Amino acid sequence: MEQIVIRGGRPLMGSVQVSGAKNAALPILAACLMVRGTVRLRRVPRLADVTTMVHILRLLGVSVDWIGENDVLLTAQHDGPTVAPVELVRQMRGSVCVLGPLVATRGEATVPMPGGCVLGPRPIDLHVKGLRGLGALVQDENEYVYAYADRLRGSRVRLAGPHGSTVLGTANVVMAATLAEGRTVIEHAAREPEVQDLCSFLNARGARIQGIGTRTLTVDGVRELTGGEHTLIGDRIEAGTLLLAGAVTGGCVRVRGINPNHLDCVLEVMHQAGAETEASGTAVLGRIGTTLRPARFATATYPGVPTDMQPQLTTMLCCAPGRSTVGEGVYPDRFTHVPELQRMGAKIVVDGACAHIDGGHPLKGADVAAADLRAGASLVLAGLAASGTTAISGVDQINRGYERLEEKLRSIGADVERRIEGAARVGERKSA
Ligand code: EPU
Repeated sequence: MEQIVIRGGRPLMGSVQVSGAKNAALPILAACLMVRGTVRLRRVPRLADVTTMVHILRLLGVSVDWIGENDVLLTAQHDGPTVAPVELVRQMRGSVCVLGPLVATRGEATVPMPGGCVLGPRPIDLHVKGLRGLGALVQDENEYVYAYADRLRGSRVRLAGPHGSTVLGTANVVMAATLAEGRTVIEHAAREPEVQDLCSFLNARGARIQGIGTRTLTVDGVRELTGGEHTLIGDRIEAGTLLLAGAVTGGCVRVRGINPNHLDCVLEVMHQAGAETEASGTAVLGRIGTTLRPARFATATYPGVPTDMQPQLTTMLCCAPGRSTVGEGVYPDRFTHVPELQRMGAKIVVDGACAHIDGGHPLKGADVAAADLRAGASLVLAGLAASGTTAISGVDQINRGYERLEEKLRSIGADVERRIEGAARVGERKSA
């Protein structure tokens, strides 16, 4: 078993370069299925989820060549297979975003249902609704989604669900609409920076998408997309996690290679909790003024506080003396980090989609397990803040979304290493 082992209690100080955004990389890699010619993607993070997507694309007839650590060339073969491999799709929900590109370019797609996960039920009804709106015949039964369309046709589709807009649903429909006949208007589209990056990538390839970053996307279909280069945006969730590593240890961390606007709501919660932050150009610096204070926030779709920062912000509030409240507006069951934080001494009560935190009780190192990626990040933060040694298992989850995490943390003063089957091993290990 692999573990991340942290000896906590050291203030982290220094500056860290953020990797390219995982959640922009996955749909943009999938979009390469639709491009005629070669795409060069830069700043692609080497993560387990990216490796899974690359395997899926290769099996779907895309040649993928890494020409540098984070630089990749992709060329799609247009009459390739239309069935996505079940064993890989089941590993990662993000793989559902091959659905739109396959229907748009190959006329059909069979994609295994990604299923629920520890975050709770994760339906794809809005993806299906959107593709049906464009005229595709879609059957979602027997654990597979089968979609067929001779020619997709533009129309008006509304992608609102019970928890707001859908990120990958918007990605799927916008990609399909790009090559549809006529105009598509997507109402209640996701505005997340990663969706914006996908749209910018598509426009640079010849697509005609307007309203990027707003609730309504208007897509005028084009006949083809052409090759070219694109550099991914910085990962706002990684940036936020690293800033909090400074905050929970009473240190001062600067993250580089990020659009500070993408972090607005996270910085707002940090301010409420007594942190000082300073944005300049493509960097943000965070430090604790005097001590942490309690805060209240609820997650929401962008530009709200991202659900992917909720577990990490919860850890920060465990370090803030007083009563804090966290509402989870996107995945009401996303609290798998709570019992693990409790093992470390945190006082948290979950009531429905809310967590009430009685902060300021000292965290103590313990053996804990990450049930999902961001839960893992919250435990890393807790380990950095805690006294003694914390050993985190479920490292595969953390590998899905953080590139060279221990190396980055060590560079700002953390005492962290990976341990495999009981043997302590200091040093870098690639995550994917
Ligand atoms: N939903 C529906 N119907 C649908 C799709 C979604 O009801 O057809 C619901 C979901 O159950 C959820 C809400 O809508 O309650 C939002 O889900 P969304 O579709 O936006 O999530 P996603 O696109 O599957 C992406 C990220 C997640 C991130 C969410 C929310 C990728 C690869 N994944 O998932 O990232 O939490 O958006 O921002 O982009 C992570 O990186 O740790 C992660 C889980």
